Amino acid sequence: MAESIQDMWSQWLLHRRFAGDPQRMKALIDFLYPVRDQVLNHANLGEGEILLDVGCGDGLIAFGALDQIKTSHVIFSDISQDLLNHTQNLARQMQVMNRCEFLCASADDLSAIRDAAVDVVTTRSVLIYVAAKQQAFSEFLRVLRPKGRLSIFEPINRFCYPEPPGLFWGYDVAPVRALADKIKAVYLQLQPPDRDPMLDFDERDLIAFAEKAGFNEIHLDLQAEISLPMDANWESFMQTAGNPRIPPLEEAMQQALTPEEREAFVAHLRPLVETKKGTSRSAVAYLWAVKD
Ligand SMILES: C[S@@+](CC[C@H](N)C(=O)[O-])C[C@H]1O[C@@H](n2cnc3c(N)ncnc32)[C@H](O)[C@@H]1O
Repeated sequence: MAESIQDMWSQWLLHRRFAGDPQRMKALIDFLYPVRDQVLNHANLGEGEILLDVGCGDGLIAFGALDQIKTSHVIFSDISQDLLNHTQNLARQMQVMNRCEFLCASADDLSAIRDAAVDVVTTRSVLIYVAAKQQAFSEFLRVLRPKGRLSIFEPINRFCYPEPPGLFWGYDVAPVRALADKIKAVYLQLQPPDRDPMLDFDERDLIAFAEKAGFNEIHLDLQAEISLPMDANWESFMQTAGNPRIPPLEEAMQQALTPEEREAFVAHLRPLVETKKGTSRSAVAYLWAVKD
């Protein structure tokens, strides 16, 4: 069946997050596969068990589970019908449709699933887009059977944002700070740090959400890193969007700067990017928990 790629989630996940750059795509896969494996290790999926992957996207965790335990059954759920169509096509090609279900639902409203219906709930980089995080954790608890497991991975964006004045995506832009501020304003307007669901929580909040929902055995592993920037390719630096809700740098510059300003900003930033003279900060949290 031909696929039409329409909504912002499928456009970003299937295209815009690596902007057609094969090197960036490889780096993403090299990062994501160990994350998938860790999420599944914490989930401890058993033979014949049912796993619900919330915000399944293009099926990273869900297909991993089907592959890891050959008798498992997986419910792919997402708010993007386009991504559900995409994963359904993949499942058909892989001949695993008899072990799959597909559900269009938001993480904070899983009412289509009855109480205690699943053995495992997984989710990766989804709660960052969900405003009602406490409600989502309550839904995870509700749909899990007793002794069921929750396994989550989320970026902790507060570790890196908002950046101090004079820094732009980890690069020193003090000499062109006024221009950087104009570009930052485009992003700040789209994702205000005090209100945006990507930035309104940290690892302690994740533990508190899980505990308040009623999970009683809870583990959290925080991994924080300050390192050299990953990307030295200027074109993909300009064209990759960090998440579905924001434009790539090239578009933000078009919106915020005059042609002369863009030239001045690029003249300063490009050599820094291409020689990796910056700093990358990242933090991620794995949380896993058991329902009593
Ligand atoms: C960064 S992608 C992660 C996809 C997948 N979990 C993975 O590991 O690759 C975020 C996913 O969350 C989905 N999503 C966004 N808001 C959601 C919500 N409120 N409830 C469920 N899924 C949501 C998006 O459609 C997208 O598929």
